[in-house]
Amino acid sequence: MSGVSISEQDVKVQHTECFIDGHWVPAKSGKTFATVNPATEKEIARVAEGDQEDVHLAAVAARKAFDEGSWSTMDARDRGRLMYLLADRMEQEIESLAALETLDNGKPYQDSLNVDLPLAIDCLRYYAGYADKIHGSTIPIRGKHFCYTRREPVGVAGQIIPWNFPILMVAWKWGPALAAGCTIVMKPAEQTPLTCLRLAQLAKEVGIPDGVINVVPGFGPTAGAAVVKHPMIDKVAFTGEHRTAQIITRESADTLKRLTFELGGKSPNVIFDDADLDSAVQGAYVGLFLNQGQCCCAGSRVFVHRSRHREFVEKLQALTEQRKVGDPFAPDTQQGPQVDLPQFEKIMSYIEKGKEQGARCVTGGTRVGDQGYFIAPTIFDEVHDDMAIAQDEIFGPVLSVLTFDDKEEIIRRANQTFYGLAAAVWTRDVALAHEFAARVRAGTVWVNCYDVFDAAAPFGGFKMSGHGRELGEEGLRAYTESKTVTVAL
Ligand code: NAI
Ligand code: MG
Repeated sequence: MSGVSISEQDVKVQHTECFIDGHWVPAKSGKTFATVNPATEKEIARVAEGDQEDVHLAAVAARKAFDEGSWSTMDARDRGRLMYLLADRMEQEIESLAALETLDNGKPYQDSLNVDLPLAIDCLRYYAGYADKIHGSTIPIRGKHFCYTRREPVGVAGQIIPWNFPILMVAWKWGPALAAGCTIVMKPAEQTPLTCLRLAQLAKEVGIPDGVINVVPGFGPTAGAAVVKHPMIDKVAFTGEHRTAQIITRESADTLKRLTFELGGKSPNVIFDDADLDSAVQGAYVGLFLNQGQCCCAGSRVFVHRSRHREFVEKLQALTEQRKVGDPFAPDTQQGPQVDLPQFEKIMSYIEKGKEQGARCVTGGTRVGDQGYFIAPTIFDEVHDDMAIAQDEIFGPVLSVLTFDDKEEIIRRANQTFYGLAAAVWTRDVALAHEFAARVRAGTVWVNCYDVFDAAAPFGGFKMSGHGRELGEEGLRAYTESKTVTVAL
């Protein structure tokens, strides 16, 4: 398969069943659901529609693998070695994985190949290196005692992921869980189950023992809810909408699961009057339009100092109007379709609200073509804080420009949201940059850059953008329990 001339026809779908205890099995009910190519609106394949019974079998397998199996007691360095092997396998198959990701999700093949896959592989390697570096400590307590802590795996991890970065979310979830010695029941998003299933097969082929990784495709309120309620599952790690996280919080109350959430945002991207405007324009453009605008950390509120506003909008408009929207397999495509019809309709309805509420549509605002869920990159200017497009997460290629006059005002307005995932500031004033970073209530702050991610840097939200952190050492800790051991001497 050549990286240059790849097309939809080259992509092979090899796995569509549930992966439980190392075996491919249909859903107990026999039901299947369609996964659709969002660029053509055509069915790619039918996938097993897992539900409670399938999740139960997966939970039993994961529990057994954890309690009796070889994973949590395997020498940690050997566990890490298997993770390195999985990363190597992904690298060997990078083109076919990227193509499958593009087919199922619609993101440009060049992005799958050059962004998503390398980040996912890097994440697995980062955590592979951590497997044998998970330490407790010795503690000098009173009396003739020897006291120490052990960091033990939390147990069976239930992992529920969204469709916007399917492979990358698998890596963010499997990486720390596997390194810590946990076993896994994963429910991929119903829109994009295919690459997760392929990765399960690769994990088996490199020698990760049966039962360590289980994948049950299906829908949220059925398969997802079964993961949340299952008594053999110790923890749920979820990425998605905050309303779903509220449901998960309620439904996990009976079993008091450990919960980590990575949710949405309405992230402020603030451009001060002394900023390098060309970089700020580029940062605003990438910060919003990356991945069809389907990023939890999208810089969807762009605040520009009034003195630079006109110049900024002109430059941003020129850049945005060059953006190539179309066939995600075409080598020069920069923007593919939105993931599905509900997302497409949600975004179009926000575009209508923006117009109705008096924002000025500078460019875009329309569907592209008549097949596939394509939306023209859209900029709204003259947006006010109380408009729907300035308050709600749109999760599409719709950028809002707002203006501001001074520092105190902008810090207050930046924080005026129940979200707190990310923020960015553009300025040449070092003190101002650090002051903004300290005072904005967000889990990640970028200074003179946007969307810089690294497996070593923790990521997650303040307020209703999340609970706990993923990536880095903090991400690993979320898959461990601390045990205190005290020995009489
Ligand atoms: P969602 O939160 O419903 O779906 C994410 C995952 O949760 C999927 O695997 C889904 O099957 C599962 N799920 C849904 N309901 C569940 C339940 N009751 N119990 C357990 N699992 C459940 O998000 P959805 O509907 O795909 O998108 C809606 C909006 O959420 C988007 O428009 C966007 O604003 C936001 N979103 C944010 C993401 C992020 O990265 N923070 C990712 C995806 C969506
Ligand atoms: Mg939903």
